[in-house]
Amino acid sequence: MVTRILSENEQDLRLAGEIIAAGGLVAFPTETVYGLGANALDPDAVRKIYEAKGRPSDNPTIVHIADESALKQLTWRVTPDMQRLARKYWPGPLTMVVPRRDTVPNVTTGNLDTVGVRMPDHVTARALIQAAGCPIAAPSANLSGKPSPTTVEHVIDDMDGRIDAIIRSTPCTIGIESTVIDMTGELPMILRPGFITREDVARTLGKDILVDPTLNEKPEPGVEFRPKAPGMKYKHYAPEADMIIFEGETEAVEAAMDEERAERESLGQKVVVIRYSQEDTETAAHEFFAALREADKDKADIILAAALPQEGIGFSVMNRMLKSAGYNVRKV
Ligand code: TXA
Ligand code: MG
Repeated sequence: MVTRILSENEQDLRLAGEIIAAGGLVAFPTETVYGLGANALDPDAVRKIYEAKGRPSDNPTIVHIADESALKQLTWRVTPDMQRLARKYWPGPLTMVVPRRDTVPNVTTGNLDTVGVRMPDHVTARALIQAAGCPIAAPSANLSGKPSPTTVEHVIDDMDGRIDAIIRSTPCTIGIESTVIDMTGELPMILRPGFITREDVARTLGKDILVDPTLNEKPEPGVEFRPKAPGMKYKHYAPEADMIIFEGETEAVEAAMDEERAERESLGQKVVVIRYSQEDTETAAHEFFAALREADKDKADIILAAALPQEGIGFSVMNRMLKSAGYNVRKV
């Protein structure tokens, strides 16, 4: 298949909308990561997403909408908490898991009776949804298991020849995927941490917010690992290289990383070091996936990464870092 590279002008967005409406696949920018979109209400179209990504079929996709009224098309229950979160964080990097209507096909939700819904902040994403005239199911536009794409080049590397079109835009401003929050229980629960934190949501709703207890915990060998978002159980974000996370006081971490690096280099290994300011976790979120892909391009043998404090956005970046390192943490 020849993949067309489209621009963000009106004519190209109209064409991209037509491709989606006709059951095709279009990758498009959002403020978090690039998405791989199909008509969320067309099971054959959504099936193609799973094929193009090599994605396990029990992993539900997020359904993207362009205005709040579309939420009622997907769910029969809109609670005051959902309205409050929508008003505060939409358009933006928040996905709400809500009971689904029968109009949403099984393949879109991985056979769950809920659906994840998000209104993206990126103007192009919303223009595409409007042009298509339907809600758009879109996982991140990477091959399954690879780091999520934060630039159009990442999307081209993974998806060229596998999908109908890719909309070229600038790098994603946030860089990690949306916060996924389950709104079906008594208290909301964070299933995937993101740029919008538990503390943010707790402040907005004035109540406790639960966090899936499996997040950022190493799965115990022999014990079934069952995070509440099906996608969180899969191997994810894996670079080609091995990876070690160093955790501890900054100076001790620096020293241990320097030592490890010198030793590896003396053995002729290509070493990549990933280290961010402990205060500027937004930059870490913005850079991390791109850094993993860069390490692959550089044919790194080993990635040495400094842990971030596990609070706020740091917790969200650490969630990705732990997965990409296969939970290989060295405490120093
Ligand atoms: O920022 C994002 O959310 C990006 C952009 C493109 O919007 N999309 C994204 O989609 O990251 P994906 O498919 O790569 O990740 C969706 C995550 C998975 O872990 C999936 O299991 C979970 O959300 N999820 C989706 N629907 C769910 C549901 N109904 N119940 C529980 N988890 C759900
Ligand atoms: Mg993904």
